[in-house]
Amino acid sequence: MTDKKERPVYGSAETPPVSHSQDQVPQERQVPSKVTAPSLIARKGTGQAILCLTAYDWPTARLVDEAGFDLILVGDSMANVVLGHASTLKISLDQIISATRAVKRAVDRPLVVADMPFGTYHVSVEDTIVNALRLVREGGAQAVKLEGGVARAHLVQALVEADIPVMGHVGLLPQAVNVRGGFRVQGRTLDSARRLLEDALALQEAGAFAIVLEGVPSAVAARITERLTIPTIGIGAGGGCDGQILVFHDVVGLSMGPAPKFVKRYANVAEVMRDALKGLVSDIRDGSFPSDEHTYDATSALPEDWDSEVE
Ligand code: KIV
Repeated sequence: MTDKKERPVYGSAETPPVSHSQDQVPQERQVPSKVTAPSLIARKGTGQAILCLTAYDWPTARLVDEAGFDLILVGDSMANVVLGHASTLKISLDQIISATRAVKRAVDRPLVVADMPFGTYHVSVEDTIVNALRLVREGGAQAVKLEGGVARAHLVQALVEADIPVMGHVGLLPQAVNVRGGFRVQGRTLDSARRLLEDALALQEAGAFAIVLEGVPSAVAARITERLTIPTIGIGAGGGCDGQILVFHDVVGLSMGPAPKFVKRYANVAEVMRDALKGLVSDIRDGSFPSDEHTYDATSALPEDWDSEVE
């Protein structure tokens, strides 16, 4: 880490980027309204909610972009909702990199943020930077997210100094499940609410461009939001945050098992898939699939006695 003390500064969202001939982006990837870390900071106080959702693959990321979301998080929740693990601790850096590449191929407008998996920033500052650089260089992430407050602020500063935008994450921390003894809502006592504010301010001071507030009482989240100059993104933190984030599979009804209290389900995609699969099973069993409609016919081009030639 360098001894640079001043708070790292993100570019102004209003100033058009200066183009350098060496790093010009190919024409088809130049989307004028592309969301950036500075453009999200500029949204603070405008009353325009920042729309965020997770995605882990090409088709779902495409749908999230089409729906108008501003930010896609390739979250370590992939461990639960895609890979079937009981906690987020099992996901590897390579798995997040691979998912981030698929998401990046799918989207034009949203900012793509990759989660730093458990163990990838619980190491030296240098190793943390190397791991985050892999998410950016190999995965194509435009920012990274890591969990923790005051204790992780030095890492946030080091990453921002290495030109990697960072989203913070305080409150209920899924990666801290073992030290906290479960998934615990934070900020329910005065002490805990004070600590949350200190955490958020430390991350802002270190240069984070936004902070996820997870599992925080809505009044506490609203107070933290007022005190910060960077956006807060709530998940189970009420409507007073600058933006909202949820897990894709929870929203569309594709996650198995009971959803947390803060989830609102907008579809039951698992039911739609179940019905589709039941239909296929029944059609194969009764012989109605494949029908002529789904079968290639070459008989008109073959001689009449072709089958005796193919012995
Ligand atoms: O991994 C995740 O999905 C998260 C949440 C903030 C949505 O970290």
